[in-house]
Amino acid sequence: MDTRQGQGRADGGPRTRVCVVGASGKLGRYMVQHALDRDYEVVGVCREKSVGKLAEFADRITVVAGPTDDREVIGRAVAGCDAVLTVLVPWGVHGYSSGTAQAVLDLAPEGARLVFSCGWHITRDGRDVYSRGFRASVRVVSVLARLVRAIDIDDQVEACRRIFDSDARWTVVRGSDLEEGEGEGLPVWSRHVGDPVLASNITRRTDFALFMVEAVTDDALVHEAPAIVGCRTPSALAHARPPRPHGSQETR
Ligand SMILES: NC(=O)c1ccc[n+]([C@@H]2O[C@H](COP(=O)([O-])OP(=O)(O)OC[C@H]3O[C@@H](n4cnc5c(N)ncnc54)[C@H](OP(=O)(O)O)[C@@H]3O)[C@@H](O)[C@H]2O)c1
Repeated sequence: MDTRQGQGRADGGPRTRVCVVGASGKLGRYMVQHALDRDYEVVGVCREKSVGKLAEFADRITVVAGPTDDREVIGRAVAGCDAVLTVLVPWGVHGYSSGTAQAVLDLAPEGARLVFSCGWHITRDGRDVYSRGFRASVRVVSVLARLVRAIDIDDQVEACRRIFDSDARWTVVRGSDLEEGEGEGLPVWSRHVGDPVLASNITRRTDFALFMVEAVTDDALVHEAPAIVGCRTPSALAHARPPRPHGSQETR
């Protein structure tokens, strides 16, 4: 399935075209919905076996089926896109995450906004301060997952290292623990885990997706790795600054 939905905007201008890599997952589907809410033209990439999970969007988006680390698949999907929103997942032990990131970095049109998702465990400058409990849980997940050869967190780290080294217009959004539920609004963010504003460590998944989509038009987030938390959480309410007129609310 690879059919383009190419109609123009009501005001005659071209529609913003975004590709969602990993569109069939929970975060991916929320991102598709938020992008459609903005009247963006959406191309979704997902594994062949997951195409059915996008059925609710069938006549509103273009689906490119295939592994997200397949350069031919990504090349086709990102062609002509203004932005690429990528769910970085550390599945398997064959460089899935780094392969996906590299394909997006290499093949997205020059100047496109590239927004990647990951968790707080990724650090850009080593200045994040993690609680003992957080460090222990990442270590346990990492060791257990490698033992069963299901997940390779080190590969997600490698994926992000390549993104941080890139000259592309990237943002790496670092999610806290996630929960389902009604959206509460745009999460607040800080450059460093350990900042009191992040202490609640919980974000609604739909709001994580909202932040990813909002980043497409928020140039203040270019070359940033925001760690986010829900805007209605106790720590955000206690420590966040008043929001700027436009864009995300940064609290460093
Ligand atoms: N879960 C959390 O608590 C949490 C916390 C902080 C940050 N994050 C970040 O949030 C993002 C989304 O995470 P999520 O946990 O909410 O997951 P999710 O949105 O459900 O996405 C999982 C993705 O992984 C794909 N996938 C599943 N099994 C796979 C396999 N064996 N091989 C290849 N791809 C596979 C899924 O594709 P299919 O639809 O094809 O299965 C889907 O695109 C990630 O970047 C993650 O690092 C998550």
